[in-house]
Amino acid sequence: MNLILPSIFAADLMNLKSECDVLYEEGFQVLHVDMMDGNFVPHIAFGPEQIKNIKKQVNMKLDVHMMVSAPEQHIASVLDTGAEMISVHYESTPHIRFVIDQIKQHGRKAGIVINPGTDTFILKPFLNIIDYVLVMSINPGRPNQVFMEETIDRIRELKVMIGQRDIQIEVDGGVDESIASQCIEAGASLVVIGSYLFSNNKAHVKNLKSLEHGER
Ligand code: DX5
Ligand code: ZN
Repeated sequence: MNLILPSIFAADLMNLKSECDVLYEEGFQVLHVDMMDGNFVPHIAFGPEQIKNIKKQVNMKLDVHMMVSAPEQHIASVLDTGAEMISVHYESTPHIRFVIDQIKQHGRKAGIVINPGTDTFILKPFLNIIDYVLVMSINPGRPNQVFMEETIDRIRELKVMIGQRDIQIEVDGGVDESIASQCIEAGASLVVIGSYLFSNNKAHVKNLKSLEHGER
């Protein structure tokens, strides 16, 4: 089954709880939370304490996307949030294996994120330990960007590289309903959607939900 993951960076923060409750009632299971440090990416958002509070308030699982420099210094507090899925940028540290091992040792799903400028082949040494690959389809940390078309080919490339392994492909940035369909067709099974989903358009919510089961 495919999953659509609402990205709360695009939510109305003053109404975060009610917005998440609506999505939960619609059947969305996993919330994507962007952690940004103002260094690896220009914005600052959602530190571990806030994520921990979000986790207590919402009924959904959390997918934490760590956009921080030196993630090895923050991984313990991110694990402490209780997030079920945690991904770390390949570009953010020379200690990526350490961070992934920490995530796995705590029984969580571990992902490696690659920026648009990072070649997919760097994932090869990690194929036996990761649970998912997050392919950025925009430059990380900036909202309202346009989906990079070449991402579709990168998803196809990854699909071949992954082969029969139990690794999911996630895509994040600038995705709407038609792009989500193309990503799923290319091999992605986790699709992050921010502004298109939090636009208060009920049709968007329903249509995206139906993509999870391949109903459209
Ligand atoms: C951007 C974040 C995304 C972002 C997606 O760096 O990683 O999760 O919130 O939002 P949209 O779908 O609006 O591009
Ligand atoms: Zn993200």
